[in-house]
Amino acid sequence: MATSLIRRLFLLVVTAIMTCCIAPAAEVSDFDSINLYTLTNQNNMVVKITNYGATITSIIVPDRNGDMADVALGYDNVESYINAANRPYFGSVVGRYGNRIAQGQFTLDGKEYTLATNDGENHLHGGQMGFDKVVWDAERVDNGVKMTYRARDGEEGYPGNLTLSVSYTLTNENAIVMHYEATTDKPTVVNVTNHTYFNLAGEGEPTINDHILRINASKFTPVDSGLIPTGELRDVAGTPFDFRAPKPIGRDLQSNDPQLQHGLGYDHNWVLDREEAGLELAATLYEAHSGRVLDVLTTEPAIQFYGGNFLNGNLIGKSGKPYQHRSGLCLETQHSPDSPNRPEWPSTTLRPGEKYETTTVYRFGVK
Ligand code: BGC
Repeated sequence: MATSLIRRLFLLVVTAIMTCCIAPAAEVSDFDSINLYTLTNQNNMVVKITNYGATITSIIVPDRNGDMADVALGYDNVESYINAANRPYFGSVVGRYGNRIAQGQFTLDGKEYTLATNDGENHLHGGQMGFDKVVWDAERVDNGVKMTYRARDGEEGYPGNLTLSVSYTLTNENAIVMHYEATTDKPTVVNVTNHTYFNLAGEGEPTINDHILRINASKFTPVDSGLIPTGELRDVAGTPFDFRAPKPIGRDLQSNDPQLQHGLGYDHNWVLDREEAGLELAATLYEAHSGRVLDVLTTEPAIQFYGGNFLNGNLIGKSGKPYQHRSGLCLETQHSPDSPNRPEWPSTTLRPGEKYETTTVYRFGVK
């Protein structure tokens, strides 16, 4: 009884170290089927993942002196994930369509679909009860955990029963490998990604503006004031959006480029320069004081760099410190926003008999 209470109140205290517990999909109130899974490797790196939202709650990695810190923003109890004001999506899988769909509408095979709108007039990260707000089944796999969610036909307005799984594995090269697979019984759209906020100096540190970022992209998608792409693919050359050579995130933030005003800073989608299909380096983040480096590799065509512009100090993280404006950043590998309404862009349609399959890697190091 006491154990059950603790489990309800302090999810992270009852770390289930690689248990093989398989819980049925559950309502949010069914706390007993929510668990926390801890992955460790031979370098003592620790990654914690809960099956509430398939959420990464902690990533503990060494700095250049071997000192460990948690570099992922998040909470130490499940209630905060469920009730978080302003819905930051800390660490979760977002979908069925991660990012925005204009006015929550798209047409597929001549049929118009209307989705839940939860970001003004637009649809964001899967709607009111997106994949970050549901309980996933979990099972043990080699060096990791695999989570599965079965989304119903019509859930948040999307067509098709969708079975989606994400496996998280931790390698001895300090890499978290995230492999997504999905199938459907009706034509639908899918675009899922992980929404971890990083601060390589340690979560709770005040800013990421001093982090050095490189993004392997020569074009980005300018947006309107609702952060919906205009359809243009704009050259980054000569703009604050040029991260082809590493630069401090804060360097051009004060520029009067209207795009930075629309995003309240960086909240844009970069179209990756790819040599070929497959896993390629998309972005590298470096924090000089700690020496920590994060490489993001992906099979996806684009990446959303969101600079934590909506963090405002109201959310208190696991170390008890408020998450200040721009104290964490997301590097969300994905298709570009509103692709279902942009037939000229890479397709996000999944049909019966096809398999959706993508991989993204967060690889940590020091220099
Ligand atoms: C979006 C932001 C949004 C944030 C929510 C990001 O992926 O790009 O516009 O505010 O998610 O936390």
